[in-house]
Amino acid sequence: MNILILGSGGREHALAWKIAGSPLTTKLYCAPGNAGIAQEAECVALDIADHAAVIAFCKEAKIDFVIVGPEVPLVAGIVDDLEAAGIKTFGPTKWAARLEGSKGFTKDLCKANNIPTAAYERFKRATPAKEYVRSKGAPIVVKADGLAAGKGVVVASTVREAEDAIDMMFGGGLGASAWEIVIEDCMVGEEASFFALCDGETAIQLASAQDHKRVGDGDTGPNTGGMGAYTPAPIMTPEMNKRVMDEIIFPTVAALKKAGAPFKGVLFAGLMITKDGPQLIEYNVRFGDPETQVIMLRLMSDLLPALIASRDGQLKNFDLRLYPDAALTVVMAANGYPGSYAKGTIIEGLDVAAQAEGVEIFHAGTKKDGDHIVANGGRVLNVCARGKTVAEAQQRAYAAVDKINWPEGFCRRDIGWQAIARERQ
Ligand code: AMP
Ligand code: GLY
Repeated sequence: MNILILGSGGREHALAWKIAGSPLTTKLYCAPGNAGIAQEAECVALDIADHAAVIAFCKEAKIDFVIVGPEVPLVAGIVDDLEAAGIKTFGPTKWAARLEGSKGFTKDLCKANNIPTAAYERFKRATPAKEYVRSKGAPIVVKADGLAAGKGVVVASTVREAEDAIDMMFGGGLGASAWEIVIEDCMVGEEASFFALCDGETAIQLASAQDHKRVGDGDTGPNTGGMGAYTPAPIMTPEMNKRVMDEIIFPTVAALKKAGAPFKGVLFAGLMITKDGPQLIEYNVRFGDPETQVIMLRLMSDLLPALIASRDGQLKNFDLRLYPDAALTVVMAANGYPGSYAKGTIIEGLDVAAQAEGVEIFHAGTKKDGDHIVANGGRVLNVCARGKTVAEAQQRAYAAVDKINWPEGFCRRDIGWQAIARERQ
C-alpha cells in the first residue's frame, strides 16, 4: 500500500518509523516531514492546511491510506474532505473532532452520559463567569473552549487569578479560541494519559503514558509542549485501565455513535486519577506528542492494520500486543524554548548516539542543511530508549543524550522521576 502521513513532529517520525516497518507498506510519504522522517519516508513539501493540494497529491501518488498526525487539520475537517474524494483516512471527522476542538462540547457529552469529570459551567460573558468563580471559590480552573496550542488552561489558585484569566480570555488574549470558556472544579490526584483506538462502534486499549509539561527539572518553570514522557504510567494498573475503558472510553464511543457522528481514530484521554477513581480532564483526538514516541517503541504488533481497522470499523476482533518493557523519551530543545530561540544551529553525533542498545532518536524540529542536521524549531529531538524498567530506559536515554553534540540545545535531566521513585519503593 502507498501511505501518506501528515505532520512534521516527533510524533510523525515515530509513526513513520513504525509504519515503514509494516509488511503492508509499499511506499511511505510524509508531508511536510522533517530531516529524521526523511530517513523513513519520502517527504513532500505540501501545505497540509490546503486540503485540495493534499487530495491532488494523493491522486497523483496513488495513496491508499492517509494518517493524520496533528489536531488542527482534523478539527478543520481534513478527514471529511479526503474521504469525500475517495481517499481512505485514519482519524475522526470534523464533527467527532469536536471532542478536542470544543471543551464545552466534551463537558456536555460527559454530563449527559455520566462520564466522570470535574463539575463545570460554560460562559460567553465575563460578568456571570466571575460571579460563578466567586460563588465557587479557589482553586478553580478556567479554560478556553477552542484549540489554543496548549495555552488555553489556567489553574487558578485564587479568585483574583481566575478573574484575571477570564478577562484575558474574553479580552482576546487567546484569539477566537476563547469566544466561550469553561470554568471547572480543580481536581486533585495524579495525571496520566491514556490512548485507545476507536472504530466508531468499539475501542481497544493502546497504552498509557505520563509526560512532563514544565520546562525545568523538578517540574518547575513555564509549560511547554512536553519535555519528556514514559510508558506505561505506573499508576495505570490493569484494574485502572479497565475502569478507564468501562467508565470513560466506551461510554464516549457509544454517545458519539448515538449522536450520529461515530468516532474513528485515536482517543487520547488526559486523566486525573483521584481518590474516587479516574476522571476525564480533557480529550485529544490524535496521538500525543511525545507520548507516541515511547508507545511506538513498546508496540510489538503491526500498527498499520490496526489503523486501517479503525477506519473500516473492524477493530472488534483486534488485539494489540506490547512489549512488557518501559520506554522513556527525553526531549532536547533549543536554548530559550519555550521563549524565543535560534534556528539553524548544527547538531552532531546523532548516528553514534542512536547505536546504543534500545535507543531510537526521533526528530521534531530539524532540517537538513547540506551535510548537516540543523535545529529548525523549539522542540528538536526526542531521544528515546526502551528498558526493563523506567530507570533502565532513563539511564539509556541520557547516555545517548550525552553523545549528542549540540551546545545550543538543552534537556531536562530528571524525566521519569516519579515512576523511578515508585520503582524503588
Ligand atoms: P489541558 O490542556 O486541558 O490538558 O490542561 C492542561 C493541564 O491543566 C492539565 O494537564 C492539568 O495539569 C491541568 N488541569 C486541567 N484541568 C484541570 C482540573 N479540572 N483540575 C486540575 N488540573 C487541571
Ligand atoms: N503531550 C500532550 C499532547 O500531545 O497534547
